Amino acid sequence: MLILGIETSCDDTGAALYDAQRGLLAHRLHSQVELHRAYGGVVPELAARDHVHKLLPLVQVILDEAGATPGQVDGVAYTAGPGLTGALLVGASLGRALAWAWQVPAAGIHHMEAHLLAPMLESPAPAFPFLALLVSGGHTLLADVAGVGRYTVLGESLDDAVGEAFDKTAKILGLSYPGGPEIARVARSGVPRRFRFPRPMTDRPGLDFSFSGLKTHTLNTARAHDLDDAQTVADIAHAFQEAAVDTLTIKCRRALEATGHTRLVVAGGVGANTRLRERLAEMSAGVGADLFYPRPEFCTDNGAMVAYAGCVRLQAGEQVDTGFDVYPRWRLSDLPPVA
Ligand code: KG4
Ligand code: ZN
Repeated sequence: MLILGIETSCDDTGAALYDAQRGLLAHRLHSQVELHRAYGGVVPELAARDHVHKLLPLVQVILDEAGATPGQVDGVAYTAGPGLTGALLVGASLGRALAWAWQVPAAGIHHMEAHLLAPMLESPAPAFPFLALLVSGGHTLLADVAGVGRYTVLGESLDDAVGEAFDKTAKILGLSYPGGPEIARVARSGVPRRFRFPRPMTDRPGLDFSFSGLKTHTLNTARAHDLDDAQTVADIAHAFQEAAVDTLTIKCRRALEATGHTRLVVAGGVGANTRLRERLAEMSAGVGADLFYPRPEFCTDNGAMVAYAGCVRLQAGEQVDTGFDVYPRWRLSDLPPVA
């Protein structure tokens, strides 16, 4: 079964071809970073318009790269939410149109499910059940994953997502968009322990997160110091990253202990963070758990994860309708299980 996957939920246009037997055949990404940089963040209307320009040519490129013809495609999967409405509608409209023209089924995929299943594209892939830490620009959550579509959310952010906190901190420090990779880069030359930032909600039981207080703490520290001094900027970025990473690590350890899971899957854009990977590796080794990640380029948004999720759902014979609704807000736990 050959599936075309389309991702347009935010500021990346992604397309990929995944085959149930042969694996990933082709994948391409067009990043809108340059388009949005001047505005310091994603401008939804510009994002949607750019997807319109880039998506169809990208689909042609991956078909050519895979040496495939439209007649060989057995189904189309596109991100149906959560995300920016206008951006999602571009992928949904084109995905539905292609499926209709090619006379194959289409599936609207949950963006966070696609992130969560991205490690399945790697070898070794994690076996079910596992604990998943999903860390992106829009979400921070811990889920108990019994199988595809069988998700119990154990904890999530009560306010900002951790990726959003990275992005806002970068803005406070005068670093460019997107903030996560910039904070990570600058933090490398930070002096450890010059500043110590709070580890929110780690002093009480539970698996929920809150990152807005950490952001405010960063803002207050930044206001009290000279940001023209590059060393100070690096030291604040370092302290922020340590606090965010430590908080995530503490909660993952707690969730592993509470559930008894021996596999931890980390996915979403912040999963590309090297310091987070180091800390989670130490923690997992300490508690005897195996750690799984997608390769860094599949941590951030991409078409491959959508093609994979679509392949699993379409292969299971999921009933698909012909509407192209999108769901800007959509809970992971509302998804139907795959048998
Ligand atoms: O999963 P993703 O590409 O898009 C969403 O679904 O939101 O995640 C994007 C987020 C952004 O907040 C970005 O700053 C963050 O992931 N990010 C990182 C790194 N790379 C991307 N955060 C920290 N360190 C990184 N290396
Ligand atoms: Zn994402």
